[in-house]
Amino acid sequence: MTVHIGAGEGRIAETVLMPGDPYRARWVAGNFLKDAELVNEVRGMLGFTGTWNGHRVTVQGSGMGMPSLSIYANELIRDYGAQTLIRIGSCGAMQESVAVRDVILAMTASTVSTPSSTIFRELNYAPCADFGLLSAAHVAAGKRDVATHVGGIYSSDTFYDERPDLNEQMTRHGILAVEMETAELYTLAARHRRRALAVLTVSDHLVTGEALPSDQREQSFGDMVEIALEAAFS
Ligand code: ADE
Repeated sequence: MTVHIGAGEGRIAETVLMPGDPYRARWVAGNFLKDAELVNEVRGMLGFTGTWNGHRVTVQGSGMGMPSLSIYANELIRDYGAQTLIRIGSCGAMQESVAVRDVILAMTASTVSTPSSTIFRELNYAPCADFGLLSAAHVAAGKRDVATHVGGIYSSDTFYDERPDLNEQMTRHGILAVEMETAELYTLAARHRRRALAVLTVSDHLVTGEALPSDQREQSFGDMVEIALEAAFS
């Protein structure tokens, strides 16, 4: 048990999928894992462990934003020995070439700051995905009927942005999408020599203003989960 995760010893798998939303963790466990058991409900941040194609998998909510994700990823890595951490979540597209429902595989995650920023001082550290996972996810995505983009994303600290000029600079520099967690996940994985990747579904579009209606979200999110699972075990 840790401060924020109530799972007993051995109840967390080495491979962990991390959606932001704890209810999505429950949805993933119910629809993709066999014999899934609830292993954490501290603060309602649900976590489940089950199997996928015979492989043990935990799906643990991370909450929204890097400070929250940082708590769960730190405890999963340091106390439970998680080796492969894959964020599954939504993002807002920043390029016209990216459409709502598309999947994004985050090669890098730019950021203004992460909970780790204090240790870097003047250094602009470049958080990046594990190449093996990224490459396997690209192959897995290629087998599906879903448009997939590989490139840089932006991990923001604000959903309600008071600095649209920063988003414009991200768009100008080819950043595919914005979300709020991945830069810290990649930084922690690098520090502890673990594998990390973010597989994201585009839920809204900052350039066109389009948004995915909630009843259409499940199919797109299903592709994302399958890509993440296949990448983890290939
Ligand atoms: N996650 C999904 N859409 C987002 C957006 N527009 N900004 C930040 N995070 C997001």
